Amino acid sequence: MTSENHFDFGAFYNEYGEFLKILNCGRNLHAPLILEGQPEDDGIEPGDRMTDFLIKRTPVSAGQSVLDLGCGLGQPALRLARTTGCSVIGINVSRNQVEEANQLAQAEGMTDRLQFQYGDARELNFPDDTFDAVWIFSVMEHIPEPLTVMREVYRVLRSGGRFLMANIVRKNPLSEEETLFLKANMPVSLYSLTEYAELLEKAGFRVEEKVDFKGTTATWIQRDKEQIRKNHDLIVEKYSSEFVEEWHRMLDGMEAIFQEKLSYGLCVAES
Ligand SMILES: C[S@@+](CC[C@H](N)C(=O)[O-])C[C@H]1O[C@@H](n2cnc3c(N)ncnc32)[C@H](O)[C@@H]1O
Repeated sequence: MTSENHFDFGAFYNEYGEFLKILNCGRNLHAPLILEGQPEDDGIEPGDRMTDFLIKRTPVSAGQSVLDLGCGLGQPALRLARTTGCSVIGINVSRNQVEEANQLAQAEGMTDRLQFQYGDARELNFPDDTFDAVWIFSVMEHIPEPLTVMREVYRVLRSGGRFLMANIVRKNPLSEEETLFLKANMPVSLYSLTEYAELLEKAGFRVEEKVDFKGTTATWIQRDKEQIRKNHDLIVEKYSSEFVEEWHRMLDGMEAIFQEKLSYGLCVAES
């Protein structure tokens, strides 16, 4: 199922950057990884823990290069570059986030291996066979035409390169009312993990692994609500009390949908 939308994600991420950092407890704008039964005292921020899950499946090393599509604030790319020694180019439709990510690379002394630039995942400005791996991390749910992106990724990946795609996935069919609610609040393009895997095969990839992070979307939305409660005064000061009320309403409405109908999933594929 696709949901046609013409939402301007660049403008959205430009405008709400500070708020999204509060909501996500920092610079990771993807789902936190809180595994059932896993002790939470490993000292790793749950967003970084999700990044580490992807890093373990990204076989790159010094001298190799990775493309991070929809790179957010650059935190996942920084962690990937630090852990593996590779170089990362991140692209993003939010110019503010590109600037902030480049500031992070500068502050961390990593500008030789981290570069962030404006760009749209649907139309990549790179020659064929450029990268050893490509990530798209919590972005595909913003893209109504995933096959276009997958074909572009296949083109810019070297033969045998790894593609990792992690995002919100559909677990159970949504009612018309739920679909309309989601469309009205945060337009998402929803596919099941199986459908994403089929699209990847259609684009030419071999799917190596599919992971369903069961329960993660529910935990994520509960953490969002808690963050808004904890930072209420700061958010009102930066935005407005109407803004806070609107987000409360939206997250309340989304909670049941996230619990019953959606999940967070990862596809690991090879070209
Ligand atoms: C939820 S954030 C995830 C950011 C980052 N990958 C992370 O995990 O922290 C989604 C990001 O995708 C970017 N984005 C949305 N649509 C895009 C597109 N078509 N091409 C490139 N970036 C896009 C947004 O500006 C934002 O930075």
